[in-house]
Amino acid sequence: MGPRLSTSTSDAAAREIPGRRAPVLEVSDLRMTFGPTVALDGVALTVERGQVHALLGENGSGKSTLIKILAGYHRPDPGGRVLVAGRPLPFGNPTVADSHGCRFVHQDLGLVDSLSVVENLFLTSGFPSRWGTIRWPRLLRAAREDLARVGLDLDPRRPVAGLSPAVRTGLAVARALRPGAAEVALLVLDEPTATLPDDEVRQLLDIVRAVAAAGTGVLYVTHHLDEVFDVADVATVLRDGRVVATTPVPDLTRGRLVNQLLGSELDEAHASSQALPAPRARAVLKVRDVAAGPLRSLSVQVRAGELVGIAGLTGSGRESVLAAVFGMLRAERGEVMVNDVSLRPGDPRRAIDAGVAYLPANRKTHGGIMNLTGAANLTLPDLGPLWRPPLLRLGEERTVARTWFAKLDVRPAAAVHLPLAALSGGNQQKVLLAKWLRCRPRVLLLDEPTQGVDIGAKAQIHQQIVAAADGGAAVVVSSADVDELVALCHRVVVLRGGHAVAELSGEALSVPAVNRAALAAERTT
Ligand SMILES: Nc1ncnc2c1ncn2[C@@H]1O[C@H](COP(=O)(O)OP(=O)(O)OP(=O)(O)O)[C@@H](O)[C@H]1O
Ligand SMILES: [Mg+2]
Repeated sequence: MGPRLSTSTSDAAAREIPGRRAPVLEVSDLRMTFGPTVALDGVALTVERGQVHALLGENGSGKSTLIKILAGYHRPDPGGRVLVAGRPLPFGNPTVADSHGCRFVHQDLGLVDSLSVVENLFLTSGFPSRWGTIRWPRLLRAAREDLARVGLDLDPRRPVAGLSPAVRTGLAVARALRPGAAEVALLVLDEPTATLPDDEVRQLLDIVRAVAAAGTGVLYVTHHLDEVFDVADVATVLRDGRVVATTPVPDLTRGRLVNQLLGSELDEAHASSQALPAPRARAVLKVRDVAAGPLRSLSVQVRAGELVGIAGLTGSGRESVLAAVFGMLRAERGEVMVNDVSLRPGDPRRAIDAGVAYLPANRKTHGGIMNLTGAANLTLPDLGPLWRPPLLRLGEERTVARTWFAKLDVRPAAAVHLPLAALSGGNQQKVLLAKWLRCRPRVLLLDEPTQGVDIGAKAQIHQQIVAAADGGAAVVVSSADVDELVALCHRVVVLRGGHAVAELSGEALSVPAVNRAALAAERTT
């Protein structure tokens, strides 16, 4: 297999793991409650050596909870048992999970933005030092090897803050695979591809295959059904904390998998295709020749009621567009007008005052406040109507929150009272989107709006975005998910090398056409 992964398991190492005939992971009768919420209920699961085991389920079905128990984050209710390569795993101890050979890429990646790449790589394993002095040259060399193992060519001294979602994912995977005290027996990936374009998904899946081929068991969480058929040997589906089915992938069809996931058939094609509103004549958002970072020049006009998509691979400039328009990223050049107000580079406050709302791709660092309640997060950007000095009307805050949580089907129903951190990843995403929809913005800028959202909830979110456009908003969606752009937008602008290389609409707008424009062009440069 790929030479870059040959270090992950060797024959000698396999002999060192006791009970090497045993599956790498055996979970039985796992139960976990958070107050009244039953997150896991009698879960059993086995991952064999060299197997890629997909773990699926709707938002809030218990996937991350299971993983956090394996990682020693949560202690389950008494009674459950976990064996790693035949050895019992004591609960509630992150160090023990690591020494048993379990490695994790969590849903939020667990990177520290204020640190550099190399510091993040060694964050969990400790820095090699001699007499208390960190040995930087050696550290940098090791860091480069770790990055090369996952095909990343990146200066280890760079701060993590400025990295694209795809590179951040690669870095988290590199960290999980870095050789440590124990060989990697089990690699657990919690939605690693949520914001990756197809091309990078393929690269990641290659890594997953190579890791498994070397004997490591992989537990792979995803909402993307294609990936299950691409990479997994077995798929387990959770619903409401229980295992619905564990099926060898050759015995599965897409329809059967959807059925297991939702407990009913979902007409995916129907769910994602809906009538778009007719745009009004007036251009609300005018972007002229904006340049910021990898984005070299973009001009686009968006009318009220219009939905415009931005597509492009990582590095194409796509990831900078919305932040630059909003002013969060300081544009080097260009002009942004909302109606007749001209926005200032690096001045998001002015954008907000002009009626612009921006949902960033990175919800952990820019999107939400994890220790505030769902209701508080929702009402934060526009407290005006809820404010009667000196008091905030909390009762009304809850009522407003309940209405919006119902529209986007945020679960559980008690989510309005819970801190955002207690919601599942997909449900956090719904809260953050609801927060901006509620402001009825003139211009709605959405970066990866359905990242981590399950296939049922995605259609619901699309409906709400279309409703916002119908209400007169000019909407711009940037997404790695081309299907999403094609289903949701009147027009899609495709970027490559920092420039718009195609603009597709009507009959010409299709998934293959967008991919061709993004990829074919990329290959020739
Ligand atoms: N710290 C916590 N406190 C209270 N409830 C929690 C906590 N963590 C998770 N939950 C609840 O447990 C349930 C399962 O959540 P979990 O994060 O495991 O879902 P998930 O399957 O990973 O969903 P997603 O696809 O959205 O990431 C949800 O109802 C969630 O709200
Ligand atoms: Mg999760």
